[in-house]
Amino acid sequence: MTPPLFEPFSLKSARLRNRIAVPPMCQYSAVDGFLTDWHPAHYAGLARGGAGLVIVEATAVSPEGRITPGCAGLWDDRHIAGMAAVARGIRSAGAVPGLQIGHAGRKASANRPWEGDDHIPDGALGAWETISPSAVAFGANLPRVPREMTLADIARVQADFVAAARRAVEAGFEWLELHFAHGYLAQSFLSVHANHRTDAYGGDLAGRSRFLIETVRAVRAVWPETFPLTARLGVIEYDGRDEETLAEAITLTKSLKAEGLDMLNVSIGFSTPDAKIPWGPAFLGPVAERVRREAELPVASAWGFDTPELADDAVKNGQLDLAMVGRRHLADPHWPYVAAQALGVDRPAWVLPAPYAHWLERYR
Ligand code: FNR
Repeated sequence: MTPPLFEPFSLKSARLRNRIAVPPMCQYSAVDGFLTDWHPAHYAGLARGGAGLVIVEATAVSPEGRITPGCAGLWDDRHIAGMAAVARGIRSAGAVPGLQIGHAGRKASANRPWEGDDHIPDGALGAWETISPSAVAFGANLPRVPREMTLADIARVQADFVAAARRAVEAGFEWLELHFAHGYLAQSFLSVHANHRTDAYGGDLAGRSRFLIETVRAVRAVWPETFPLTARLGVIEYDGRDEETLAEAITLTKSLKAEGLDMLNVSIGFSTPDAKIPWGPAFLGPVAERVRREAELPVASAWGFDTPELADDAVKNGQLDLAMVGRRHLADPHWPYVAAQALGVDRPAWVLPAPYAHWLERYR
């Protein structure tokens, strides 16, 4: 019997060969938003490992939306060619090519994680102005106070999302994820930690949801109806207000579904440095299950679904439709093969492409 993790999964026109997805993981190796030689090799390697879906890293919709100077971008038509090569490499290895687009908001203008992970000091070479719903800093390693966005800024960033989505289609991606999580711009609109606005984009849940709902509506209008449109949302902050935050996030998810969202990638808010996150194996499983059940939408999630058994159980128990396995794929891009062996998949080598699989079955 095929383990649930290795059952195929369909969403709109996307046909995934199994329930394993590689979540977006920034490589901090782009230059002015352009991908470099690192990226096609990295992503093709991951796709060759057997995952059903490979989502390319957070890609900025505008220069100021990059987290670091090394982040990928899709704010210029000239970025399309590099992205197209990556999408082709993923598809030719049998995985569905996905892309995450986003704007880093008040967490932008930072040094690469291995070069400090902190804000580039104001005025220093390479720093840029950050924007956010309100002029409130994240704090800790990211102390820069952002400029409060005007209504014109909001309209412009939403148009940037739409333009990037159009370029994603041109580049050949078949799955789009909007980055609404992790304390970046969209999450900051939703979060009471970051959004202190008194206009239509702040205040009650409807106000704090407005930017996200409008952005999904605008992107859905240009992203092909047959391709899945998903969002990654921090549905919980672990800040002592968890029930309220989760209930709000589920209400928002229902609204996004009404706008045409096809799946939610359930994640953490990261809106405050004071969060007490209960790190542990598959700890978001029950949260994802609740979103899936109450919003009646397919869900994916990452964070510690990183043994074959944990990932398979999460799918089997109805917590997840897709298990996202991040860092284990960095350790071993052929993680799905390892999982197939561990879970007793028939002829596990054939999780890998034929030029690898055939030889793993020979001479034994
Ligand atoms: C990440 N993560 C991440 N998340 C996201 O939504 N967009 C991104 O671009 C990135 N970038 C990124 C880079 C690197 C190097 C890591 C390790 C992580 C978070 C990632 O998608 C995932 O949620 C975590 O890695 C947790 O899953 P695992 O690693 O426990 O399976």
